[in-house]
Amino acid sequence: MRIAILAASVALMTASCTAEKNEPTLKEYFSDNFLIGTALNVGHIKGFDQKADSVVRRHFNTIVAENCMKCEKIHPAEDRYFWDDADAFVDYGVRNNMTIIGHTLIWHSQLARWFPRDSAGNYVSADVLKQRMRDHITTIMTRYKGKIKGWDVVNEPILENGSYRKSPFYDILGEEFIPLAFQYAHEADPDAELYINDYAMNVPAKREAYVRIVNDLKSRGLRIDGIGMQGHMGMDYPDLDEFEASINAYAATGCNVMITEWDMSALPTVSRSANVGDSVAFSKLLNPYPDGLPTGVSDQWNARMDSITDMFIRHSDVITRVTAWGVDDGMSWKNNFPVRGRVEYPLLFDRDYNLKPFMANRLANTAK
Ligand code: G3I
Repeated sequence: MRIAILAASVALMTASCTAEKNEPTLKEYFSDNFLIGTALNVGHIKGFDQKADSVVRRHFNTIVAENCMKCEKIHPAEDRYFWDDADAFVDYGVRNNMTIIGHTLIWHSQLARWFPRDSAGNYVSADVLKQRMRDHITTIMTRYKGKIKGWDVVNEPILENGSYRKSPFYDILGEEFIPLAFQYAHEADPDAELYINDYAMNVPAKREAYVRIVNDLKSRGLRIDGIGMQGHMGMDYPDLDEFEASINAYAATGCNVMITEWDMSALPTVSRSANVGDSVAFSKLLNPYPDGLPTGVSDQWNARMDSITDMFIRHSDVITRVTAWGVDDGMSWKNNFPVRGRVEYPLLFDRDYNLKPFMANRLANTAK
C-alpha cells in the first residue's frame, strides 16, 4: 500500500504543471463525464483578473456566482435590488457559452437583515414571509429566465444530526419553507432546474434527512432536479466511503447529483478546543505553511484529490456537474476560514494559475 502511494506521488511530482498546447482542457477531459465548473467572484466577472479569466474560459464550461446573487447582495432592502454584479456574471456566462448556475435563493446566511423582520426588528408573520420569499424568488428568476440553467433553491437547511437548522425561515414557517421555496421557484421559471444544496452531505444522519426531504418533495409533485453535495473537504474528511454511499443514496431518489463547491483544505484540521497556551504557537498551528506547501503534504493532497476524482468519474452516470469553489488558491474563501489570513491550497489551480499536479498529470497522459 505504502509503495503504491509513494509510486503515485512520484508520478504526480514529475507531471508538468504547465498545460501543453496539445493537452486537453479540463472541459475536454471530462466531456464524457460531467460539466466541470468554478465559482466566480466579482473580480473575475468584471475582468480585474485577466489570468484567471483566461483559465476560466479555457478550462470550465459551467459557472456559479460565489457571492453576488446572495440575498444581502442582490436584495439589500425590501424595495431595492442590486443587479450590477449579478447581471455582469450572467453576461459573462452567456458571452462564453457556459452553463450558468444561480446561487442561492433561500439561505439563512448572508440573508439581508430586513428579510424575515418588520420595522421593529421582530419576525414577520408566516404570510408576510411567504410573500417575501415569493417576490424575491420570482423577481430574480424572472430576470434571468432562459439564461440560468438551474438554481440552488434552498441552501444548507439541515444540520449534521439530520435536524432542521433553526433559521428564520424554519422559525417562522417550520419545515414547509422548503416545499414552498420549490413551488415558488417552479412557478417563476418552469424551465429552470431546481436544486437543494448543503455541506457534509456524506454524514449518514444528514443523508437520511435529505433522502426523506427530496422524496417528500417528489411525492407532492414538486420539481427537484438535483442534490448538491458541496464538497468542502480536508485531508481527513469526509470519509470517502460515506461520501460514495451518499452519492448512491441521492441518486436513488431519481435526482441528479452535483458536486457544487469542491475544494480540499491542505492544512491540518485544528480543533476549536486545541489546547495551545501561547498565541504565537496557535497561529502557527492555524497557518502552518505560509511560504508554500511542503512536498510531502502536497503529494498527499494530490493523491487524495486524484482518488476523489476517480470516485466522481466512477459515478458520472449520476453526477452531472462538478464545480470547484473558486479558480486558484489565492482567491479561495479558505484563506479566511476558520480564521482570516491563512495561506491555503485547496483548489485545482495554484496561485500562479498552474493546474495542480494530479490533474495536470491526467491531462498529460490523455495527450500521449
Ligand atoms: O463584500 C464585503 C466587502 O464590502 C467588505 O469590505 C469585506 C470585508 O470583510 O467583506 C466582503 O464580504 C465578504 C464576502 O464573502 C465577499 O467577499 C464577507 O465578509 C465574507 O463573509 C463572505 O464570505 C463568503 C461566505 O460564503 C459567506 O457565508 C465566501 O466568500 C464564500 O465563498 C462562501 O461561500 C459559501 C457558499 O455560499 C455556501 N456554502 C459554503 C460556502 C463557504 O462558506
